[in-house]
Amino acid sequence: MISALIDLDRAGDEGLVAQLTSQLRSLIAVGRLAKGRTLPSSRQLASDLGVSRNTVTYAFEQLAAEGYLAASHGRRPVVTVDGGERFEGSGAAASNAPSAKPRLSPWASKLKRTDWPMSYQALLKPLRPGHGDAREFPNEIWARCLRRSAVRAARREPGPVNRTRLREALAHYLATSRGVRATTDQIMILPSAQAALTLIAAVLTTPGDDVRVEDPGYPGAAAAFRASGARVTGMGLDQQGMQRMPGMAAPKLIFMTPSHQHPTGRLMSLARRTEFLRWSMSGRTWIVEDDYDGEFHYDSRPVPALQGLDVHGRVLYVGTFSKAMTSDIRLGYLVVPPALIGTFEIAQRHIGLIASSHIQEALAEFIAEGHFLAHLRRMRRLYHLRRDHLVEGLERRLGEVLSVEVPSGGIQLVARLKRGHADQAAVKRLVEAGVETRALSSLALGKPRDHGLLLGFAAWRESEISAAVRTMASCFSRG
Ligand SMILES: Cc1ncc(COP(=O)(O)O)c(C=O)c1O
Repeated sequence: MISALIDLDRAGDEGLVAQLTSQLRSLIAVGRLAKGRTLPSSRQLASDLGVSRNTVTYAFEQLAAEGYLAASHGRRPVVTVDGGERFEGSGAAASNAPSAKPRLSPWASKLKRTDWPMSYQALLKPLRPGHGDAREFPNEIWARCLRRSAVRAARREPGPVNRTRLREALAHYLATSRGVRATTDQIMILPSAQAALTLIAAVLTTPGDDVRVEDPGYPGAAAAFRASGARVTGMGLDQQGMQRMPGMAAPKLIFMTPSHQHPTGRLMSLARRTEFLRWSMSGRTWIVEDDYDGEFHYDSRPVPALQGLDVHGRVLYVGTFSKAMTSDIRLGYLVVPPALIGTFEIAQRHIGLIASSHIQEALAEFIAEGHFLAHLRRMRRLYHLRRDHLVEGLERRLGEVLSVEVPSGGIQLVARLKRGHADQAAVKRLVEAGVETRALSSLALGKPRDHGLLLGFAAWRESEISAAVRTMASCFSRG
């Protein structure tokens, strides 16, 4: 059936007539619709494709005008060109053949429709959220670890893909610093936290599954689960974190950022944590805990990870070195419940989400020699000062327009717009003036409830923060 060879993207920018014309033209050009083949009537093809009859008629008329079809009123069109003859002969002709619109998988089509990753300007500008300060990273020490790791490579045992020394170092770090309970073989080393989310979506979700995420929330998570075909819906937040509505059925999977909710920075209360864990004990719900910047806490002792409270093996714990070290390191990790380890390792190899062993070994050494904890301690002090500096500047200069939600940790904060300002327009004005922020409304899944700005403070020196706040103040004073 010809309709099975056609894939129309109704959400795409290109009109349906143009899509259908170009796909039919390509099918003829490559010989899939051979010379002499009679096509279905416009009424039939329109009904098979679920488009209007006019759409098909216009496409047929265009192809008849180009000489691909013979079409006369009341007769079904016939292909008049031998694709093989016309296009296969010379390389030049073949490369000029009109190419069919690539038939993408549902996964790729859904990914293309999300607006994540956002198109940031290439150059990092103050106060772009989501970054630590790469300028403060001890590059000389890291270079020594990398060099030693490379020199020793020839003497190392090949495999395993998740290097034992790094898993051991991480198991110890996560237990002592984050309260995570994991044996070394539960820890997978991946190129990023995003890779962990993609892997989880691939292994645990089926098209149509009910997946819940925070709203507003981290768009990378919604994108990963939506692409896998899950039905992704948001759950609102209150001061205790993600909120479960009474009577809500247990979903297949919940994604959350309980240590510092992305983007608000709120800490999920213990009562809420136990409520979600109890829900997951029904045995149907997986909880994905993304602890992307849990290392940074300023006002009190850190609250241990939710994973540490899970005694039923329902929590998958995701972490990244993008914030704790630098985003160029490209390493993240995933702690998998015992019942899932084997399956996740098979999927990891199949998808090829394997991090370089040179870098894994270098990081194991960096941690073992104490450099990782020393860096974290130093950054915690620095980022704490920077958070306070940004909060003070915003309250002093922009207190009339913005209300700051001070996070107890993390690397970014939310400042809500008090009145009358649409956040996307404000973000646009600010970026033109050299200050890069993210609109809170762009992180909403449903209708945005709040307008505000997500501002990064960790990557910027105090002088840079002051300058950015002055720029913001002058932008807002101009309206
Ligand atoms: C909540 C959250 N999770 C995960 C990530 C991604 O981390 P990675 O760079 O390791 O993919 C980010 C990055 O901004 C984030 O904000």
